[in-house]
Amino acid sequence: MKLFDVYPINNIEPVKALGSTIWDEKGQEYLDMYGGHAVISIGHSHPHYVKKLTKQLKNLGFYSNSVKIPLQDELADKLGKLSGLKDYSLFLANSGAEANENALKLASFHTGRTKIVAFTKSFHGRTSAAVAVTDNPSIKAPINFADHVVFVPFNDVEATKKAIDDETCAVIVEGIQGVGGIQVATEEFMKAIRTSCDKTGAIFIHDSVQCGYGRSGKFFTFQHYKIKPDIVSMAKGMGNGFPIGGILISPKFQAKHGLLGTTFGGNHLACAAGIAVLDVIKKEKLIENAAETGNYLFSELSKLKGIKELRGQGLMIGIELLESVSEIRNKLLFEDHIFTGVAGANTIRLLPSLALTKAEAERFLEALRKYIK
Ligand SMILES: Cc1ncc(COP(=O)(O)O)c(C=O)c1O
Repeated sequence: MKLFDVYPINNIEPVKALGSTIWDEKGQEYLDMYGGHAVISIGHSHPHYVKKLTKQLKNLGFYSNSVKIPLQDELADKLGKLSGLKDYSLFLANSGAEANENALKLASFHTGRTKIVAFTKSFHGRTSAAVAVTDNPSIKAPINFADHVVFVPFNDVEATKKAIDDETCAVIVEGIQGVGGIQVATEEFMKAIRTSCDKTGAIFIHDSVQCGYGRSGKFFTFQHYKIKPDIVSMAKGMGNGFPIGGILISPKFQAKHGLLGTTFGGNHLACAAGIAVLDVIKKEKLIENAAETGNYLFSELSKLKGIKELRGQGLMIGIELLESVSEIRNKLLFEDHIFTGVAGANTIRLLPSLALTKAEAERFLEALRKYIK
């Protein structure tokens, strides 16, 4: 059997990794400035993470959500404390799309409404409700186009206020658009969404799948602006590679047995991974490191003259050039042995582990300076 060929791949086979370093099958070492698409939060194969997962697997890998799973409570407790959203509840799923799917569904159950306000260049996942609020027709099948979704220009305060009305079920927005090219939501824009939702009874869904979990230098990006969404979706960095996602739900929502559900969500191994990630983020002060190393990277990058626009917060940085970045990214990968990400044709996307050191950041800068003066 062959694989269904949907991914363009680089001719590299990673076989081992530690922290921000990856080795391929020939023993070649790489610096990971991409984190497997923002997934590697605490660094590859962190010893605490490996120990926790191994121990859990030896005891019990899985049982369904029909029994007591105290690991879920431990994860919720630690997440509430570290994120500062102690009064929110946690529903566990398996991916970012599934988190958003449940967020949208919960908003619709709660309000009884259908209209969703989403934004240009948004990406919320590939499942039915999530892809419907994603601004990319090329990844929508005919069954995914939905009349109930209105797209408004990202960061356009007036258009946003106008679009959110008494029929709006929910507004879904990324704090920093990832796939859309590292576009940072402004404080005014976020506050306008909060105010309009309060006025109309619409639900404010903050997609923190890529920008959350410490990446921006705060646990969630909305904490830079001191506002609180009604539902926060998470995934990626939450499990450092183990598939886990979830939503944080404000106290205004009432839970009911059967309202939401999943077979795999919140399983023992996923919880062990999620707990290990939070332990390491806290113990090694990785959110502070993301802010500090991110600021350093940003200020060094801003000295380069050849950049059209530099955007981002913490360790989520977009470097937009006037031309395609594909040649530079290939040189970085195959000559300098550095993984980077991309958004559109002209933007290099940096999403390294939150444990990235200044020395590692410097190694990347040194390589990039050869190509961007
Ligand atoms: C902001 C955002 N939301 C949702 C998703 C979908 O997550 P997943 O691929 O885990 O379904 C992504 C994935 O890139 C994302 O960046």
